[in-house]
Amino acid sequence: MKKIDSFSEYNRAYEHSVNDPEGFWEDVASTFSWQSKWDKVLDWEFDTPNVNWFVNGKLNITENCLDRHLADKGDKIAIIWEPNDPNEDAISITYNELHQRVCEFANVLLNNGAKKGDRICLYMPMVPELAIATLACARIGAIHSVVFAGFSAKALADRINDADCNILLTSDGLFRGTKQLCLKDIADEALQHCNTINACIVLQRTGQDVNMTNGRDLWWHDELQKVNHHCDAQIMDSEDPLFVLYTSGSTGKPKGVQHHCGGYMVYAEYSFRNVFQYEEDDVYWCTADIGWITGHSYIIYGPLLSGATTIMFEGVPTYPDAGRFWEICEKHRVNIFYTAPTAIRALQAYGTEVIEKYDLSSLKTLGSVGEPINEEAWDWYYKNIGKEKCWIVDTWWQTETGGIMISPLAHITKMKPTFATLPLPGIQPCLVDTDGNEIQGNDVEGNLCVKFPWPSMIRTTYGDHERCKQVYFSTYPGKYFTGDGCKRDQDGFYRITGRVDDVINVSGHRMGTAEVENGINEHVSVVESAVVGYPHDIKGQGIYAYVILDSSVDGSEDLKKEILHTVTTEIGPIAKPDKIQFVSGLPKTRSGKIMRRILRKVAEGDTSNLGDTSTLLDPNVVQEIINGAQ
Ligand code: WT7
Repeated sequence: MKKIDSFSEYNRAYEHSVNDPEGFWEDVASTFSWQSKWDKVLDWEFDTPNVNWFVNGKLNITENCLDRHLADKGDKIAIIWEPNDPNEDAISITYNELHQRVCEFANVLLNNGAKKGDRICLYMPMVPELAIATLACARIGAIHSVVFAGFSAKALADRINDADCNILLTSDGLFRGTKQLCLKDIADEALQHCNTINACIVLQRTGQDVNMTNGRDLWWHDELQKVNHHCDAQIMDSEDPLFVLYTSGSTGKPKGVQHHCGGYMVYAEYSFRNVFQYEEDDVYWCTADIGWITGHSYIIYGPLLSGATTIMFEGVPTYPDAGRFWEICEKHRVNIFYTAPTAIRALQAYGTEVIEKYDLSSLKTLGSVGEPINEEAWDWYYKNIGKEKCWIVDTWWQTETGGIMISPLAHITKMKPTFATLPLPGIQPCLVDTDGNEIQGNDVEGNLCVKFPWPSMIRTTYGDHERCKQVYFSTYPGKYFTGDGCKRDQDGFYRITGRVDDVINVSGHRMGTAEVENGINEHVSVVESAVVGYPHDIKGQGIYAYVILDSSVDGSEDLKKEILHTVTTEIGPIAKPDKIQFVSGLPKTRSGKIMRRILRKVAEGDTSNLGDTSTLLDPNVVQEIINGAQ
């Protein structure tokens, strides 16, 4: 389909999408290849919620990512894989080859008993096989659940069990910068606590020794020997689930956000094409991990649906040195580069000399995602990477939204530092006050909601529809609530100010404070804990933990290390607190609710105005906490 190619066209499309949403999305959806067409574009209500897009339409997303491109783009590069070690060769995979390899692996899954509707867990490094296996699941109609390879055995087991996965795909190990991690060992430990997994298929990546359990574990390469490369795409209903992806909320338990085939496909491609303004020969690189929604929508699905060339990077921005991103941009002549503010801030600290070594003249568009981008990082990115000629698209969205919701369209609409700017046509954001009234007009601030369905919105939380309703559709009845606070300036541009719930955003990774607390509380000496976020120069938010110890133990540096270890075991290194303060009590109201506002203020180092503390059960703990603050 044609891209929106001017501001007036954006305005026209936006109006069309509001006045005639079904007509608008019908036009977009008609550009895909459907096995049979829908009866109705949209059927919805936000109370249950029950949202159906392209009702009774049949499709397979992989036919749209692969088969339909083969006639005229079979030899085009679909994926460029850049390894962790710059001395190892990069790999290019054409659409023809990708199609063949996806079909082969789909047959491996079928040989191992997988069928439509099964849940398959992927716990893998950033290697081409991860993208191939993800698409292979979609090919046969199995629901993929990709778990970021930085999560612990416990976190992996929880996710496998929540979705009752029957196959686990993993690797012997992975390379990340100077580190080599034994993924299979972690998977083995997880599987001791899972009883639904029938087969664990193991890719050889590092070549390290691993334990293979008879009757359960199989080598990826052995399985590939047994199959051919013909595999018909499963017929999927538009509203059949495509994948589950776990994310954190206010409660301690991560939830499986579920996305469905038709709507997700339409929106992933539509948003990719318009936000990045992808052109036929562009090389596009998103630095995210496929373990997060950004990797699902904008490394795999959006680009492949558009017939683009997408880069997958196995490593980290600082290995072998802080010039790695720019070395890769030069090497592959990257035109569109999409990363997170935390990476920008981390690289900013290394100065510009390491950038000047590389030719970045191929870059046209830079993207930002995951957290609010501060003005300093925006300016640095614009000047030093974009050389003041590239557009920056600050893309606001969430795991639950499936795709980019508010963002400039590169070179087409407008950009404004630190603003996500305008909603894409088809997206109807609104701001509400604490009573749930919609705030009209400009130059206002409120809680960000969306008042009309969009194709890639969350359909349910796996196995617990009530939770989906409670978390997203009950706070403001009739609206989807994002959990974010937001400003709308005098021009109607949106600026996300951050979460308004008990969720913190650490290096663009979402973490529930309750989840981290649960992890800390697993340590034998911990009685209770309270976790808050505080401003952190590089991570955006850091994790500050207030910990009450058993009265028989003394708080020591060693004990802090042990607690960090416990959190790493329970969740993963990304959830480790940056600061731990031992306290004798927490500021609680008479009803036992922790007053986090106070803890946040102390963590921020701002104790000048703590507000009303008179309702506290024991106001004295506040002074003790202030005195002991880090
Ligand atoms: C939360 C969603 C969307 C993929 C990565 C994170 C924050 C995301 C922005 C942005 C300000 C942003 C929000 C949102 N966020 N993008 N451009 N500006 N904040 O996905 O883990 O589902 O987290 O990330 O707070 O609610 P996620």
